[in-house]
Amino acid sequence: MIIAIDGPAASGKGTLARRIAAAYGLPHLDSGLLYRAVAWSLIARGVALEDAGQAEAAARGLDAAALGDPALRSEAAGAGASVVSAYPPVRAALLDFQRQFAATPPGAVIDGRDIGTVICPQAEVKIFVTASPEERARRRTRELLGRGEAVDEAAILADIRARDERDMNRSAAPLKPAADAALLDTTALDADAAFAAAAAIVDARALKT
Ligand code: DC
Repeated sequence: MIIAIDGPAASGKGTLARRIAAAYGLPHLDSGLLYRAVAWSLIARGVALEDAGQAEAAARGLDAAALGDPALRSEAAGAGASVVSAYPPVRAALLDFQRQFAATPPGAVIDGRDIGTVICPQAEVKIFVTASPEERARRRTRELLGRGEAVDEAAILADIRARDERDMNRSAAPLKPAADAALLDTTALDADAAFAAAAAIVDARALKT
């Protein structure tokens, strides 16, 4: 079974994907980490994010073992990922890894932006997770504070809006729900309620296949 969980930055899709994967005994891939790793490889070497050729080379040479680097969770890596993920050759270079991960039995839970639309259009279950930009900024602020990072909630909200704008309006695989995705708005839901709602969607869809 393949479960595709897409949605905007800080919508809670990562937490949801991890919990769904554990509950259904499936491996989990956070596809955003791939784009973050590409961006971080440029940032760490002082290469401009605008250098699409270098970004493509980094995507082709990506080492899956590097995906555990805590630096990939930083705001800088996330904002950089939003830039390099707009380059079609970067997306193309990361396609096979994601499709192979999904095709390996027993299947997978993959979260990202284009999993239900481009990477795994055949996924049995597609969930598009949303939450208001203000709520997402609140959650991201809480998360960063919890990690001891200095935060400015207004700046985080501005960054979330800018990232939504870039992710939704790029021409290559823009962020949008698949026609057959179930929409899950978590603005008023805590993590447990969001998980219960997502599990109900998985159970209902899995019964139909
Ligand atoms: O989900 P995230 O915050 O880790 O994603 C970081 C950026 O990577 C996001 O702004 C857009 C890009 N991304 C993408 O284009 N496609 C994906 N499947 C996942 C992430």
